[in-house]
Amino acid sequence: MKRLLRALGGEAVWPPPVWLMRQAGRYLPEYRAVRAGAPDFIALCTTPELAAEVTLQPIRRYGFDAAILFSDILMLPWALGHGLEFKEGEGPVLPRLRDAAAVAALDPARVAQRVAPIMQTVRRVRAGLLNEGFADTTLIGFAGAPFTVACYMVEGGGSKDFAAVRGMAYSQPALFQRLMDVLTEASIEYLSAQVQAGAEVLMLFDSWAGVLSPLQFRAHVIGPVTRIVAALKRRHPAVPLIGFPRLAGVMVRDYAATGVDAIGIDTGSDIGAVSAMLPAHMAVQGNLDPLAVVAGGSAMTREAASVLDAMRGRPFIFNLGHGIVPQTPPEHVAALLEYVRAQ
Ligand code: CP3
Repeated sequence: MKRLLRALGGEAVWPPPVWLMRQAGRYLPEYRAVRAGAPDFIALCTTPELAAEVTLQPIRRYGFDAAILFSDILMLPWALGHGLEFKEGEGPVLPRLRDAAAVAALDPARVAQRVAPIMQTVRRVRAGLLNEGFADTTLIGFAGAPFTVACYMVEGGGSKDFAAVRGMAYSQPALFQRLMDVLTEASIEYLSAQVQAGAEVLMLFDSWAGVLSPLQFRAHVIGPVTRIVAALKRRHPAVPLIGFPRLAGVMVRDYAATGVDAIGIDTGSDIGAVSAMLPAHMAVQGNLDPLAVVAGGSAMTREAASVLDAMRGRPFIFNLGHGIVPQTPPEHVAALLEYVRAQ
C-alpha cells in the first residue's frame, strides 16, 4: 500500500510520508511560467491541462508522497454562483454575503457542471502520476470546511478578525445556519465527485476554525465536519479524510470525534502535546513553520528535528503548519526532503 495511505490507516511509517501544503505555487519558477500564460487564477483552476500540469510540477521536482489537486477552496462558492475574483497582490475578493436573498441566490444545482473541469483535472493527475512513474504517490482532493468558506463569503475576502462572520453567527443564527447547510451539502457532493474522479484521500481546510469560541466551534466546525465525514464514509468507506482545524488549540480533542482519520496541526501548537490528546491510532500531520523553510540551513533542520522527534513511533505525515510562502527558495525544500528521508 502507498506510504501515505499506510500512515492514514494508523501505521507509524518511518521515515514518515511527506508533502507540503501549497507545494504547487509561486515559489516554483515552473509554476510562475504556467501562471503567466493563464488569463487569471480562476482560469488556471478550470483549465484541466494547466491545473494538472502545476499539480504534477512539485512531484517531478521533489517526489513528494502526495500530490494535492491544484484548485482553491473558494472554487466551491464560485460554483454555487457567488462572485469571486483573485486580485493581484490582494488575494480573493467576493461579494459580501449579508442577507437571506444572498443565501437564497446560491444554486447547488449548478455546481456539478461548473466543477466538471476540476474533475477532469483529478482524472488527468491520476493518470499522469502513473504514466510518469509515481505509482507510490497518493492523490489528495480537498474542499474548504464550511466555516472557513463562509468566512470569505461573509467578509468578502480575508479579514484580520472575521468580526462580520462571527457576528452573524451570533445575531442571525438561522440565516447563518442556512448558509452552513448549503455549504455542507455542496461540499459532500463536491468531495464525492472528486473521489469518483480518482482522489484517494480528502482533506478539509478549516483555516479560521480557531477564531471561534468553544461553543461556536462545536456548532460550526465540529457539526458540519461530522456531517461531511459521515456522508463520505457512507459513500466511500475506504477513503481517508484529513481535517485541518487551524488554530484550534485544545479543541482538537473534540474535533477528533468528527470521524476524520487524521488531523493537521498548525505551526503554533506543540505537536507532541496536542497529539497526546488524540487517540493513539489517529494519524497526525504537520507542523513545521513555513518560515523555517524560508530560512533553511540549521534553523530549518533544528525545527524539523523537533517535530520528527515528537512524532517518532506514531502514525504521522510530515508537513508544514500552514502553506509554503512564495519567497521560499526551492532548494531549501529539496534540503528539507533530504533531511526528513534520512530519518
Ligand atoms: O498546492 C496546493 O496546496 C493546492 C492548491 C491550493 C491553493 N489554495 C492554491 C492557491 C489549496 C489547497 C488552497 C487552499 C486555500 N485557499 C486555503 C486553505 C489553506 C490556507 O492557506 O489557509 C485558503 C484560505 C484559500 C483562499 C486563498 N486562495 C487565499 C486567501 C489566496 C490569496 C493568498 C495567496 O496565497 O495568494 C488564494 C490564492 C491561491 N490559492 C494561490 C494558490 C497557488 C496563489 C494565487 C496565484 O498564483 O496568484
